[in-house]
Formats: sequence, structure tokens, C-alpha cells
Amino acid sequence: SANLKGKDLLTLKDLTPEDIMFLLESAIILKEKHENGEIVKTLEGKTLGMIFEKSSTRTRVSFEAGMLQLGGNALFLSSQDLQIGRGETIGDTAQVLSQFIDAIMIRTFEHSKIEELAEYASIPVINGLTDDYHPCQALADLLTIYEHKQTFSGLKVAYVGDGNNVAHSLMIACAKMGVDCSIGCPSGYEPKEFVTEYAKKVASETGATITITENPVKAVQNADAIYADVWTSMGQEEEAKKRLEVFASYQVNDELVQHAKSDYLFLHCLPAHREEEVTASIIDGPNSVVFQQAGNRMHVQKALLQAILA
Ligand code: CP
Ligand code: NVA
Repeated sequence: SANLKGKDLLTLKDLTPEDIMFLLESAIILKEKHENGEIVKTLEGKTLGMIFEKSSTRTRVSFEAGMLQLGGNALFLSSQDLQIGRGETIGDTAQVLSQFIDAIMIRTFEHSKIEELAEYASIPVINGLTDDYHPCQALADLLTIYEHKQTFSGLKVAYVGDGNNVAHSLMIACAKMGVDCSIGCPSGYEPKEFVTEYAKKVASETGATITITENPVKAVQNADAIYADVWTSMGQEEEAKKRLEVFASYQVNDELVQHAKSDYLFLHCLPAHREEEVTASIIDGPNSVVFQQAGNRMHVQKALLQAILA
């Protein structure tokens, strides 16, 4: 079993392929138990603090419900109501919260903020999304793909759209598991150079390929899974109008998916904007697994919390 006790999850760089496989297997067991109504109380008396500087439906509810199911507690801490919102430093907040609770999950803007929190906290810190990464999402994405394909070997995942936090974590996740990953994005909206370089380095060790292309057809060619995310992420609202134009030819629609394998899976981290990044015909169509994927957030995060805290 992987030894993740006491560790942070700031990005998937923190996990080895073996750690990831361990979490997926553990999530599958927890999911089956949950579906059979079996109670697993491995985190009795443990408290997770959840700091949110951005909106959330899935991350908030899946972490909170997951903690409660494991016998623990979760505190929703809106940054607007914390003293952080009035200028208390992240460092002071981290040192204080470390006295009260057992782990912190944070959703914030700059990735440097979560690094600062982790530096000052004496308890594990979990990334619930930053401007650069969304590792818990990528774990749920891997679980969903694994449930359908029963393997990672020989697969190709295509991500079409903005080279954002979700794309970054997906790319690293694929690289770690030896899955070919192809990103189709407009020029100027590629994943950040240092993330692509890291993913390529890992991929060279696992036998996978990482491809960045401006051509969405090339990206999805022969893909086993097609992934879409919003064109305008949280914090980029003022660019929304421009982005609608920039990404117009990157919509996942009936025409584009023709180039993937016929049994391709459609994935989306949600929330989605129908008829923008994806048509209703695809996200509500027979190849879409987006709600299973959303549900898997809870199962994989329970596995993570158990590994870090139990
Ligand atoms: N996918 C995801 O993280 O959703 P929320 O923003 O609702 O948490
Ligand atoms: N890229 C999106 C993901 C939301 C879950 C954002 O950062 O807003």
C-alpha cells in the first residue's frame, strides 16, 4: 500500500504511479461499499477544513459528504468570512488552523498561495483547485476512464479547449499512468510550458506521448476519451467575450467526435456550458460519462482522505 499518511496533495507531481493506482483501487472498494450501504468509519474524530475563495458545487459537497461518510467532520470556510478576507496572512491562518483540525482543503487563485499555506501548516493540505492545477479532478477522471476501459495501457485521451488547470492536471495524470494525451488548443492558450515539460519528462519514463496541437481534429484522432472544460475559468470573467471567439472552432460536437474511436468516452469536469465548449448532443449523448465522473470525485477523495489521515 502507498504511504501517503501526513502528505500534502498540491499537484499530482506529489504522487507516484503506484500511489495513484493505490488510490484508484481504494476508491473502487469504497465506492462499492457505499453503493451497498456498508458503513466505513476510518476517520472518526477527524476534521477537514475547507477554504473556498471561488465557487464550488462538486468539490465542496463531495469533500463534505465524503468526510461525514467516513465518520469525520468537515467545515466550510468561506474566505469572505474568514479573517483572510480582511487581510490576515495565509501563514498565520495556517498555523492557527493546524491547532484545531486535521487537514485543510483549499480552492484558491494563484498556486503560490496553496504552497504558502502548505509551508506554514503542520497538517496536510489538499488542492481543491488553483489557477494552475486541479489534482482531485484528475484522480476522478482517471478512475472514470479505468472503470470503463479496465486498463490504462494503449489509451489516448484528448483534451480540447483552454490549456488551463484541468488540462494541466489531466496531462500529468495521463503521463503518470502511461496514457497518451493530446491537447488541442488555440495558439496562445496552450498549457503552461513548465507543466508540458514536466508531463513530457514523466511520459518519456512511462512510455506515453504528450502532444500539443492547434488542430482539434488531430487532437481527437483515434482517441479513447475526449475531454472538455469551460473556455472561461473562474477569475477570467472579464475575458469571456473574447474567449467565445477564440475557442469557437474548438467545440466538441457531432462532427469533431467522428474522428475519435466509436466507443470514445466524453468527459467534462463540470460545470458545463451547453452549445459553447460542448453541444448538448454530446454531453447528454450515449458516450458521455460526465455524471459518473462527477460522482467519482467523492469516492476518490474518500480514498485520498483515508490514505492521508487514517
Ligand atoms: N469540477 C469541479 O471542481 O466542480 P466544482 O467547481 O463544482 O467544485
Ligand atoms: N477550469 C475551470 C474548472 C472548474 C471546475 C475553472 O478553473 O474555473
